[in-house]
Amino acid sequence: MVVKTLETERLILRPFEETDFEAVHSYASDAENTRFMEWGPNDESDTRNFIAEAIARSRENPCRNYQYAAVLKSTQKLIGACNLIRRGDDQGELGWILHKNYWKQGFGTEMGRRLLELGFDELGLRRIFARCDTENYGSYRVMERIGMRREGCFVEARPAHKLSDKKYGDEYLYAILKDEWEVLREIQYYNSLPVVFEDFVDIPGLTDGEIELHCVAKNPAIPEKKWVPAYVFEIRRNCIRAGEINFRVGYTDGLYYGGHIGYGVDEPHRGHGYAEKACRLLAPVIRAHGMIKVLITNDPGNTASRRTCEKLGAKFIRKARLPEWHDLYKEGMRFVNVFEWNVDND
Ligand SMILES: CC(C)(COP(=O)(O)OP(=O)(O)OC[C@H]1O[C@@H](n2cnc3c(N)ncnc32)[C@H](O)[C@@H]1OP(=O)(O)O)[C@@H](O)C(=O)NCCC(=O)NCCS
Repeated sequence: MVVKTLETERLILRPFEETDFEAVHSYASDAENTRFMEWGPNDESDTRNFIAEAIARSRENPCRNYQYAAVLKSTQKLIGACNLIRRGDDQGELGWILHKNYWKQGFGTEMGRRLLELGFDELGLRRIFARCDTENYGSYRVMERIGMRREGCFVEARPAHKLSDKKYGDEYLYAILKDEWEVLREIQYYNSLPVVFEDFVDIPGLTDGEIELHCVAKNPAIPEKKWVPAYVFEIRRNCIRAGEINFRVGYTDGLYYGGHIGYGVDEPHRGHGYAEKACRLLAPVIRAHGMIKVLITNDPGNTASRRTCEKLGAKFIRKARLPEWHDLYKEGMRFVNVFEWNVDND
């Protein structure tokens, strides 16, 4: 059997068996359940043919259509199905259906996530996409929840869904690239790191004898905007302002792209490595908040900022595609270079 059984927190995704008929037919023959599907509602022979076909497909080697019956671990009941079809050499398309008694409990999201893992980690795909009727909120929300991007809306591209009075329906196309999938995992990792914030701290003597950091603002978190607390320091040389450096306390999806540290050296003071030195002076503040790994991001075209990261010994993580919801995207940027600086190495 090429199709191996997969597991999620609450589900077993396994190849179909002939004895699945009743459970499959209970949703496949239901008009509401199949409203948005390109098939159905099924009569008995449709369902038997589907199961026979799914079993045959899962025995093909190489497999092109990975079809899974979704079985609830807690009751061993078959509650739906999902699949990944290989498209071309390195792409895949996802599909899913659940018995309507199991809608809105996160099972669709759970199956979808596992299929992405299969496609990217096990099958080595580069791009995975999914399509649905624009009125199928449940389905496109699953796509969004698992990190797919809406790539387009195709007008009258499919037959209308079964309760529509129109002939044709509109279709959304969603997709995710392997790179974006890896970013989601990196974000999950950083968001799991420890951070302590009871209040802003005052650490005296942030100086290396050449420059000094002087705190000029302590900006509280703005939870509605998902903004974390942030310090603003002036970089001073001989008591004169030479630039500014910010430190944002915490890990969020947005900070993966925006970074924990932002710096700017005023033009007359450039060329002395002040940005790198200012970062090093921040280390005690960063440690005071229980953080060890901080992210510094920059425009891929910004050589000075990239050099600052390299001189700090920060590790290049990747050039990440900015998501549309990020402020930097709205400002016109499309990619950022993401560096990780481990302050314990300092
Ligand atoms: C699409 C489907 C698999 C989603 O599964 P699910 O387990 O209900 O999805 P989740 O619980 O992970 O929730 C995803 C979101 O969709 C919403 N949702 C799910 N089913 C819904 C429905 N029938 N009507 C309205 N909203 C629905 C959930 O409330 C949740 O919304 P939120 O993100 O705003 O909180 C399921 O609705 C289904 O089987 N539909 C019929 C078959 C189908 O249309 N397949 C897709 C063809 S392209």
